[in-house]
Amino acid sequence: MRKVYLYARFQRFWHWMQALIIFSLLVTGLEVHGLFHLLGYEAAFHVHNAFAWGLVLFILLAFFWYITTGDFRQYLTEGNLLEKIMMQARYYMVGIFKNEPHPFKKNEISRLNPLQRITYLMLTLVGLPLQIIVGFAYYYYNELVALGMDPDWIEPIAVIHTLLAYLLIGFVIMHVYMTTTGHTLTSNIKAMVTGWEEVEE
Ligand code: HEM
Repeated sequence: MRKVYLYARFQRFWHWMQALIIFSLLVTGLEVHGLFHLLGYEAAFHVHNAFAWGLVLFILLAFFWYITTGDFRQYLTEGNLLEKIMMQARYYMVGIFKNEPHPFKKNEISRLNPLQRITYLMLTLVGLPLQIIVGFAYYYYNELVALGMDPDWIEPIAVIHTLLAYLLIGFVIMHVYMTTTGHTLTSNIKAMVTGWEEVEE
């Protein structure tokens, strides 16, 4: 085994801030939705909108960082992406329970397996931006109607926003489970805290 530096300081900061913001958005969002009473509707509504702006800011910062450092290359896959995703999915469903080795070895220039790459890319480029756009359409609904938007759009906006929130909860549950499937139970999480991880030679 050898120790490698996988996550730069900004990246770890961004990751945990994003996790904190999304967790707060989910809690306040579900309160606004009427699922429980914690801060009170009014406060939950304001906190939710403030965190939404925070998320936009952090996503823009992260885009800037990933592009200027060239780290976005970690998300590109050479060769047959589908075949590689299937290999990784088979490992999670079968191989892992038979103690088979990980199909893709981690190193400094390739820390994410193909399934992680596509999941995180879809989340960051499709899921979160869509949720943010729909959320802002919800918030600025009156202004948009004054600008000519069909008032009936409130229904699909509300349904899509709630549906995406539940999908995000599903992502977080799967994501946290997946982070325990590294070399040891906590090796991936330790790497996201310290930056360092032990990988195979
Ligand atoms: C709540 C929303 C969360 C989002 C949106 C999120 C998103 C991400 C993304 C995009 C990456 C890839 C970073 C990269 O390598 O470029 C990542 C990696 C990681 N995340 Fe999260 N994360 C969240 C919560 C959490 C939580 C709660 C934990 C652990 C308790 C966690 C643990 C990790 C770890 C260990 C990695 C390293 C790579 C891996 O094992 O997949 N994340 N996360």
